[in-house]
Amino acid sequence: MKILVIGSGGREHALAWKLAQSPRVFKVFVAPGNAGTASEEGVSNVPHASIAALIEFVKTESIALTVVGPEAPLAAGMVDAFKAAGLRIFGPTKQAAQLESSKDYAKSFMIRHRIPTAAYATFSDAGPAHEYIDRQGAPIVVKADGLAAGKGVVVATTTAEAHAAVDMMLVDNRMGAAGARVVIEECLEGEEASFIVLADGKHALPLASSQDHKRLRDADGGPNTGGMGAYSPAPVVTPAIHARVMREVIDPAIAGMRADGIPYTGFLYAGLMIDKRGGLKVLEFNCRLGDPEAEPILLRLKSDLVGLLDHAIDGTLDAAEAEWDPRVALGVVLAAEGYPENPRKGDVIEGLPEAGDDYRVFHAGTTLDGNRVVVNGGRVLCVTALGHNARTAQKRAYDVVSRIRFDGMQYRRDIGHRAIEARAKRSAAALTPGGSTPAAATPAPAAPTPAKPPADAA
Ligand code: AMP
Ligand code: GLY
Repeated sequence: MKILVIGSGGREHALAWKLAQSPRVFKVFVAPGNAGTASEEGVSNVPHASIAALIEFVKTESIALTVVGPEAPLAAGMVDAFKAAGLRIFGPTKQAAQLESSKDYAKSFMIRHRIPTAAYATFSDAGPAHEYIDRQGAPIVVKADGLAAGKGVVVATTTAEAHAAVDMMLVDNRMGAAGARVVIEECLEGEEASFIVLADGKHALPLASSQDHKRLRDADGGPNTGGMGAYSPAPVVTPAIHARVMREVIDPAIAGMRADGIPYTGFLYAGLMIDKRGGLKVLEFNCRLGDPEAEPILLRLKSDLVGLLDHAIDGTLDAAEAEWDPRVALGVVLAAEGYPENPRKGDVIEGLPEAGDDYRVFHAGTTLDGNRVVVNGGRVLCVTALGHNARTAQKRAYDVVSRIRFDGMQYRRDIGHRAIEARAKRSAAALTPGGSTPAAATPAPAAPTPAKPPADAA
């Protein structure tokens, strides 16, 4: 069969690579793709086009399945249009994608279906928003209601910052329609994790857990980005937390969408905050795979992805199982000069290695200029490696990073630090009778940790 993947990032390179592995697939097209998808065996790029033009392309090429990577085409109704044309496509409808495309929709959905989330209020006028901020105090979080490509959230440590964010969105309209309403919510503390499932409208199949690194610089400094690196599994998602996420978040979300008459089919991503006492709240829903989370997750997936997507489209995920490589996968994002504000394009990338047994370089903002691979976007590459634990996966990934060069290349040196610290704490606890260690006397680990690394309950 032939498959079409929509998008051009590292997530889409990983999806196209994984789908092309299927014995049932002989061709994967990516619209528009990048230099990595252009060079992958069994994969070709096709130009970016309107939904109508893509429907024509799918019919002409007899493409059996379309998989949508990013949120924008989902929010624009691509799935609805393909289905109306009688074509097989994986992703949520426009209405269902509101779980990501409107924060107000997602918040009221969570409250209605008793899914734990931060307390909030929604405003379209600045006056009441300012009064609310003064009543609540700082820290406080101001979010644009609509899609803002990761730039719509201000975690304000002072009320002045929160007031400025409200003025920027509601008065100066700097985010356009996305900022015509704002959600203001309680600031949560803890450790974040990404919990992504496949959903078929009635059932959910969890993928392996993962953790992103949102800030540009080491030690979680600098501005927010789309994500500077990720690994899977996330030790903070212990088997006990995993079970609670399914029970308290995922199952009620799938049942709630169904009860609301908007059954949810597609990847569903719950961004979680897990506090020191194991308290669990949803920061956000996304209607797609995370990027860069997809790269380590898909590198660990041993099952045929086409088979899993078929189960999801046909409503039979309860009969599906996903098999995972027990190793840790860790991806380091290499970003362009000027990212995230103003990434510079055109720099030539050198030293790109062929994939090895335990690593792959997924492309994101790259394009071909003749035979040369050049920078074409903010996040350029995601170097992803497997190892028997987080430290060896990290070492392997950075070994590969050290071979790659382009002018202005920036990346974090500490991707995976939380997983490595969690493992060190577990080992220390295992060596001490009674399991308590000097480290445990200082702030406790983020969550109860099991005696051995979770094999990832997924
Ligand atoms: P979002 O676009 O909703 O993923 O938010 C981007 C980032 O802002 C999240 O990954 C968190 O790091 C942070 N964030 C969002 N909501 C909150 C909150 N209620 N409390 C603390 N941090 C938050
Ligand atoms: N890496 C975070 C996201 O995809 O939203």
